[in-house]
Amino acid sequence: MALRAVVRSVSHYVPGRRVTNDDLSALMDTSDAWITERTGIKERRFIDSEGVTTSQLGEAAARQALDRAGWAAQDVDLIVAATLSPDLYFPGIGVILQQRLGCRAIPALDIRAQCSGLVYGLSCVDGYVKSRQAKKILLVCAEVQSPVLDLTTRGRDMAVLFGDGAGALAIEACEAEEGDPLVQRGIIDSHLGSDGSGAEVLCMKLPGTARPGFIKESDIQEGLVHPKMEGKVVFKNAVGRLLETAQTLLKRNGLQPGQIDLIVPHQANLRINEMVREELKLPPERVFNNIERYGNTTAATIPICLSEAVAEGRLREGSLVLTLAFGAGFTWGGNLVRW
Ligand code: UT7
Repeated sequence: MALRAVVRSVSHYVPGRRVTNDDLSALMDTSDAWITERTGIKERRFIDSEGVTTSQLGEAAARQALDRAGWAAQDVDLIVAATLSPDLYFPGIGVILQQRLGCRAIPALDIRAQCSGLVYGLSCVDGYVKSRQAKKILLVCAEVQSPVLDLTTRGRDMAVLFGDGAGALAIEACEAEEGDPLVQRGIIDSHLGSDGSGAEVLCMKLPGTARPGFIKESDIQEGLVHPKMEGKVVFKNAVGRLLETAQTLLKRNGLQPGQIDLIVPHQANLRINEMVREELKLPPERVFNNIERYGNTTAATIPICLSEAVAEGRLREGSLVLTLAFGAGFTWGGNLVRW
């Protein structure tokens, strides 16, 4: 008998408020041409009103994932949440989701792996399943990033990249005999990595205990409460680590790139994903991108892509999927999943 962590459903939720590149050009010195050419982004979603929280977006995605899986909230026995933009400094959103969804007093944990939240999350879920600690798991990846962006020319390099959104997966521990098609399904393998020497290359310094005085008025004036990035350094590391992850997972599982039905990469920059695709010599239809419509929703990018890929029929039961992510930390990784 083999124990597999099988994805039963995936869902996503994005706020209704569309913010186009032209909308941002009205707030800062930027242009649709610059943003489109450098990133592939045309628009992103921002929360509809002040005070909408990350857990609210996560709840909306999670409720639909529960419905699609045919589960009640009471069936769930573990919540794994991933976000860099929690409702509160502490606790994390895992416990808030437990309460909002009306789950039992089950374990709920938060992963802080930024853009790699989904790939770290799937690896974590697989571990819980294979160690027989959980059977019905909700993995929720959600971000509300728009309120912390500096929407002025000073912050334009970051402000044009990010959006708000959420995705959720219902994942079940399934026991199957050899010969049962179920034995082929589920999370097959994961590869994760980190390099903390990049911690300050992409970060938001405040709130944080490293700052004497915690948060001072001058820190706010200096813009330390907004995310910062050395874009070119991150870009170079992202391409290298995404390729390294893909090659590691392919080699370890005796696969050629052409045997993957769909690669679902993190959505940070269309140029990054195109470079990875070209290096793997795959046609455009084998890589799923939607950065044009949502920008970078950090932990939520991959589950939003997975949800749309299912809706578009590009991901079906039996498809072999490779997820790939790189982000702040640095953290990176990928998962090989038979849908
Ligand atoms: O999700 C986490 C992982 N994140 C990533 O993987 C992102 C990786 N990095 C990138 O995607 C790219 O580096 C960016 C899209 C962030 C930036 O593109 P770039 O080609 O590396 O541009 P740059 O930062 O070198 O900036 C080029 C120029 C600069 O002007 P000068 O110094 O050449 O005169 C910037 O000041 O573009 C300017 N610039 C802008 N101009 C108009 C920066 N941001 C903007 C903007 N609009 N929004």
